[in-house]
Amino acid sequence: MDSRDDMQASVRISGDRNARKGDSSFRAKDPLTVVIFGASGDLSKRKLIPALYHLEEEGYLPERYAVVGFSRTEMTDEAYRDRMIGEMREDFSDVDPGSPLFEALHYQPGNNTDVESFQRLKARLDALDAERDLPGNRLFYLSVAPEFFTPIIRNLQAAGLIRHPDEEQWSHVIIEKPFGHDLKSAREMNEEVTGILDESQIYRIDHYLGKETVQNILSFRFGNAIFEPLFNQKYVENVQITVAETLGMEGRRGAFYDKAGALRDIVQNHMLQLLCLIAMEPPAAVEPVSIRDEKVKLLRALVPYGTPEEVAASTVRGQYGFGELKGEVVKGFRQEEGVDELSVTESYIALRAKIDNWRWAGVPFLLRTGKRLRNRLSEIAVQFRHPPLRLFRDPGTAGGLAMAAASANVLILRIQPKEGISLSFACKRPGMQINLAKVNMDFVYEAFEQRSPEAYERLLLDAMRGDASLFTRSDEVDYAWRFTDAILSGWDKLPAPRFPNYYPFTDGPDEADRLLQDSSTGWRQLSQMGIAEVGR
Ligand code: BG6
Repeated sequence: MDSRDDMQASVRISGDRNARKGDSSFRAKDPLTVVIFGASGDLSKRKLIPALYHLEEEGYLPERYAVVGFSRTEMTDEAYRDRMIGEMREDFSDVDPGSPLFEALHYQPGNNTDVESFQRLKARLDALDAERDLPGNRLFYLSVAPEFFTPIIRNLQAAGLIRHPDEEQWSHVIIEKPFGHDLKSAREMNEEVTGILDESQIYRIDHYLGKETVQNILSFRFGNAIFEPLFNQKYVENVQITVAETLGMEGRRGAFYDKAGALRDIVQNHMLQLLCLIAMEPPAAVEPVSIRDEKVKLLRALVPYGTPEEVAASTVRGQYGFGELKGEVVKGFRQEEGVDELSVTESYIALRAKIDNWRWAGVPFLLRTGKRLRNRLSEIAVQFRHPPLRLFRDPGTAGGLAMAAASANVLILRIQPKEGISLSFACKRPGMQINLAKVNMDFVYEAFEQRSPEAYERLLLDAMRGDASLFTRSDEVDYAWRFTDAILSGWDKLPAPRFPNYYPFTDGPDEADRLLQDSSTGWRQLSQMGIAEVGR
């Protein structure tokens, strides 16, 4: 159906809009030192330091704290501070160089694989503890390439920087993705890491879980009575999860991405997490163990593909070729810096997954993600079945088709941009005839008129407070890899795909349509997704 026929209605918020601002019950209480490994890297500059800055601004950091950047480059504290302030100014116009965060920011040069560097780090941290009256709590953030995860953790232990979980002072370690390259390497890494750290000290980050709308999935599902009874095979025809990006390799990610591909980069982590949240059973309580237990239960019901034929039937791989944007040539994936010129790495994947449990048996879950697609957009769309009796279907009249199309409801949880929730339903058009139109009821997060915390702000604060609800547990990672690994090994046995097979800034390869052949709806079109500006 043409989206121009859609009518939009916006939802306004009344009542408690601003109640959570600077919520003191959420403040990190324990004085601590945050140590960032990979301190001069992209993530630190673009996300971590800005996140700490905003946490400081909003009053969420404890009264006393220090932040220490650790990486190879020789630099003084002052040089590091100036560099971080300069970097932040590129994204935020009103950065205050007098913020207490910058006064607390220090730098320690060192090598991730050299134990002496860690002994020097320990001496520096001890000195800072004495200077700033800090008790020795530490949050280590491993913002480094995955091959450094275990060497760093080993060196932290060798230098006496890891406390026993029973001690009063704590050591928490945040590990960035990717956690492993496949099931085997993830297990090996897990074994090494859990040989040194207790599970309660490990925070495996998936930044999607820190996004406000992702957290809202659980509140929406289990905080309302009217939607949950419909979330099952009786009422849902399919669920489509899309993470579409317009970015390509940006001149710097090619070498990493050519080894990873869309399946490992996005599906194994972010998309399977979204799948868990939209499909899991209600947790016994809103606390880490119960939430993670339910996610694991769901992942166990997610059926790994058994044979290469099944993999071929249930997945579609894509890779973008040359294209153009506003008269400029856009490179194909194989021409990107750091990418092999004959690469068969997928920059796009669509797949059809099955969840074998009472609630979802028979409902296809369709996941797709890709680089260089038409829009940047992440959403979950729950496509409901048609009403059991199509009373308003009348193919004999001009409006007949529109009536049929209008009658299947769709619930959309939009993760980005314009975070919100939208529900489509059928409604009679004004006039003498019974003629149905599809209308949308839209809620946009902006209606709260309050800044949503960035994913990294939320996750850093949680790790300081010792709340692991939004981090992934080792068994979650393991089950997610079992599903992903079955695809990888199926692909290994199948003939190499014929790439490139889609133009940049399109919806991806047409072949993806075959995954939805038996459905009454097809894929949602990227050009029609996202919220239309509503007159408000
Ligand atoms: C990262 C991936 O985990 O997520 C990137 O490695 C991707 O390839 C990014 O671009 C997307 O995150 P966001 O928050 O921009 O949707």
